[in-house]
Amino acid sequence: MVKTKVFIVDPLNPDEEVLKQCCREIRSRSTTVVFPTETVYGLGAYIFDIYAVKRIFAIKERPIDNPLIVHISKFDHLYEVAEDIPDNFKDVTKKLWPGPITFILKKHREVPNEVSGGLPTVAVRMPAHPVPLRLIDCSGPIAAPSANISGRPSPTIPHHVYVDMFGRADMIIDGGETFLGVESTIVDLTTDTPKLLRPGPLPIEKLREILGKDIVVPNFAKGLSESNIALAPGTKYKHYAPKTPIVVVESSDYHDLKKYTNAVIEVIKNYLNHRYVIIASRETAEEYKSMELNTIVIGSRYNLYEIAKNLFKVLRDVDRMGVDIAIVEGFPEIGIGLAIMNRLRKASGYNIVRV
Ligand code: TXA
Ligand code: MG
Repeated sequence: MVKTKVFIVDPLNPDEEVLKQCCREIRSRSTTVVFPTETVYGLGAYIFDIYAVKRIFAIKERPIDNPLIVHISKFDHLYEVAEDIPDNFKDVTKKLWPGPITFILKKHREVPNEVSGGLPTVAVRMPAHPVPLRLIDCSGPIAAPSANISGRPSPTIPHHVYVDMFGRADMIIDGGETFLGVESTIVDLTTDTPKLLRPGPLPIEKLREILGKDIVVPNFAKGLSESNIALAPGTKYKHYAPKTPIVVVESSDYHDLKKYTNAVIEVIKNYLNHRYVIIASRETAEEYKSMELNTIVIGSRYNLYEIAKNLFKVLRDVDRMGVDIAIVEGFPEIGIGLAIMNRLRKASGYNIVRV
């Protein structure tokens, strides 16, 4: 067990002294640091410190072939971590960074293989959060996956960071709740046509417009098989999953959704005799009010950003409720909705009732 140092900071105006201290430790003493980003918390180390990078994998119990995202705070860093950067990359990316989008580029030869999981490519992003931006300004590029133990939902609130990382990471910078709640969109730019590897907060519709190019979007709804090539290696692992089994009910029609969710409840309650919880939108929760105690409201169907922000929190809460199964309503796959449904389906192990 490691003695974890905890620093509580104002996320929008973090204490410079705290960040300087963390920066010194990262650069001089091979340490790992947990920090907030606008998406989820990350567990980071200086990218050229191989010992500290290896510790990230041990702390998270992460397979070593699952590469890390390199976080940068300015374009100068980009040239230290990537090569053969497309000509117009900086102009385009200026419109997106800092922000919740990660690009796969050709790896700079100096970047350790431990960071890239042995791949010739590297994932890079500039987070839109004052804490990592200022920390990285001081330390240089930081490699960081999400700060959860592998397989658990990414932490979006300090409580979940402490549950997973206290006693494991060297330092925790607690900057309160993250802003968006789901991990960054990942796009591979090393192929002729850019390819979406992971849906995230930055809608693909907007990305196409800014890149001025088509983007290949795999069918995430199906459940990607482990053999699916060219996808983010991490996507093949079981992810986001609470211990409690989940069933997702999906329908493009609002009324059908309520009808079929009720039907699933009937089966689970009366035939299987299971204890259950329903995760529903504010608008539809009314429908299940006869079972009010069993309903968690995850947010408004008309504000998918609210749903995204609460998603991982709710998935972790389910495990504390002592139920046999959670029934979750699906949401429209528009904008950030694509990321929400991608995470929910994975959390359910593709246990989906689609009508
Ligand atoms: O929002 C985020 O992206 C958060 C915060 C902390 O920045 N980070 C995050 O990291 O979600 P992680 O490790 O949980 O997810 C990174 C994903 C993994 O699925 C990994 O396989 C993929 O990025 N990845 C990393 N390098 C890659 C590469 N060179 N090619 C393809 N996929 C890569
Ligand atoms: Mg992760």
